[in-house]
Amino acid sequence: MKITIVGAGNVGGTCASFIAAKNIVTKILLLDISKEKAMGKALDIWNSSQLLTNNTKVIGLGNKEYIKTKNSKICIITSGFIRNTGMTRDQLITKNAVIIKEVTNKLLKYSKNALFIIVSNPLDIMTYVAFKELNISRFKIFGMSGLLDTARYNSYLATALKCNPKDIQSMLIGEHGDTMIPLLRYTTVSGIPIGELLSKSNINFIIQKTKKTGGEILNMLKTSAWYTPGIAIANMVEAIIKNSKNIITCSCYLTGEYGLNNVFLGVPVILGKNGIEKILELQLNKEERKNLKTSSLKIKKMISQLLEE
Ligand code: LAC
Repeated sequence: MKITIVGAGNVGGTCASFIAAKNIVTKILLLDISKEKAMGKALDIWNSSQLLTNNTKVIGLGNKEYIKTKNSKICIITSGFIRNTGMTRDQLITKNAVIIKEVTNKLLKYSKNALFIIVSNPLDIMTYVAFKELNISRFKIFGMSGLLDTARYNSYLATALKCNPKDIQSMLIGEHGDTMIPLLRYTTVSGIPIGELLSKSNINFIIQKTKKTGGEILNMLKTSAWYTPGIAIANMVEAIIKNSKNIITCSCYLTGEYGLNNVFLGVPVILGKNGIEKILELQLNKEERKNLKTSSLKIKKMISQLLEE
């Protein structure tokens, strides 16, 4: 079983190493416009195989070698610009849309049955762009968002509670951005509702911090985060390869679920060997529905701006 990762930057390289460490695929193809960068990272990751006790071959490719990605089970797209190069958000969207279309088309040409995980930002919009371009089943293309955002949220809850992050269960839906919606009704610590453990103001502080983490890290590092995105992608790949049917929030195309249409938004799904096995429709209350609608309108507005250009 082989998979392809496009973009050998921090996110692409790190997710390749996390996936290799899990020893769940035989081959990872790491493709980048800079073949040297892809080859260098691939070599370093393969060098670590004995120490990490895995046997996953990692091969670096340049962008003239898409043919070598033939019959990939999963294609992960991490390529694109990030927003610290003096670009406006709109310029970023336009430039990345061009990259996403080109890359996903080339991948699909050689891997007709592949599942696509989109990671490039702005996530929900880039996943939409790729879906419309490829015209494949909506269950085979989704964005990595929820695992990253819940991991951040859970880490802050664990800090506040001085407890083990492993004991925390939470659910975040909506945009991978400022309008994301943590659902407090579904946040528990070893079964204890979060409202019994932390005050409202503490929880609100944590929610705000979670929303800002991507930007906070971008400011500190002058590039986007990669460790948590990397492991989040790797865990999604594992759920697919092992057909483990984990419930994971992914950005997926809605056709009436939650009363929403023609938009990609983070909602919980069952992930398995076919990609999205099922979209779960939670019984949201009035306020949660309103917030999800706000998220959807924001994303739709950005998509229509992109389409108008
Ligand atoms: C973040 C980027 C990777 O949230 O989306 O850090």
